[in-house]
Amino acid sequence: MTVPLLKVDNLRIALAGDGATYNAVENVSFEIGRGEAFGLVGESGCGKSITALAVMGLLRRPLSLGGGRIALDGEEIQDASPAEMRRLRGKRIAMIFQEPMTALNPLSPVGKQIAEMFVLHEGMGWNEAMDRAEEALRQVRVPSPERRIKDYPHQLSGGMRQRVMIAIALACGPDLLVADEPTTALDVTVQAEIIDLMAELCAAKGTAILMISHDLGLVANMCKRVAVMYAGRIVESQAAEAIFATPSHPYTRGLVDSLPRLGERSKRGRQRLREISGVVPSIAAYPAGCRFNPRCPSVTDVCREMVPEATPLPAEGLVRCHHHG
Ligand SMILES: Nc1ncnc2c1ncn2[C@@H]1O[C@H](COP(=O)(O)OP(=O)(O)OP(=O)(O)O)[C@@H](O)[C@H]1O
Ligand SMILES: [Mg+2]
Repeated sequence: MTVPLLKVDNLRIALAGDGATYNAVENVSFEIGRGEAFGLVGESGCGKSITALAVMGLLRRPLSLGGGRIALDGEEIQDASPAEMRRLRGKRIAMIFQEPMTALNPLSPVGKQIAEMFVLHEGMGWNEAMDRAEEALRQVRVPSPERRIKDYPHQLSGGMRQRVMIAIALACGPDLLVADEPTTALDVTVQAEIIDLMAELCAAKGTAILMISHDLGLVANMCKRVAVMYAGRIVESQAAEAIFATPSHPYTRGLVDSLPRLGERSKRGRQRLREISGVVPSIAAYPAGCRFNPRCPSVTDVCREMVPEATPLPAEGLVRCHHHG
């Protein structure tokens, strides 16, 4: 049996509120193979980003790891010390965020920020590290890297800044890239370029991707497998191509139905989107049973009372719905 690159097993993230502790995420399990692209999708607030932060060892109060195991290449890291996690971050697991401006240091030229990775993680001298930084900028196709290397983040466009973030993240050849809504802040055309660039560089280097987005279409295009989260739990996971053909959870069906379809657009002259009615409940108000039950078109009494168990789907998929099958 091969050991997955990342195995998240029964992850629980605790949120300390006033007087009570809530499970912001619970019972979340997934695996990512070496070099595989894996997608995590779901509406705003469902727990995607904090799941990513847990993997990176970056949960901070009021959030904390409440339980479960996170293993990188078979080695459990959920109890690793801050110093050990700092060593892993950048070198073996790297993350890019939605807004590169907040992740980049505004007072430091971008070349230096890339070079720092080589100095910190590979013990390189600054001269060699700056040469490597220029090469890294060239790889992410920043034009005139020999000049851009001296630019400060504010001198670059949003798309260029995200390219710099990708260069920093991939500098030391990590095994896993965690990309949390990496293109949401960008124009649509730039979005596609950045996604293609990320996918291409990761494929070339054999880097696995944990791609996080609210956009099922984007994730399914890029990833081999997709997990759908709702209100802190994974409700379904499937191979990306199967999720459109056979969405099995009513929430996933809602997501699939809300995607614009080319055929419908041309027929009606404009795209028709069906939205899932209602909103994601807040953590303190999660309903009993299946958390999707207040919005679910197929709800019955059992849904309001019991948490649905995972039912296996073909090709190692699973769905958590009382009415599946
Ligand atoms: N620092 C924090 N303090 C308190 N609550 C938090 C904190 N960070 C996240 N949460 C809560 O945890 C839940 C999950 O948040 P998370 O940011 O993971 O959602 P998300 O799926 O990434 O949403 P989005 O698509 O908007 O990025 C939300 O209810 C959010 O309000
Ligand atoms: Mg988020």
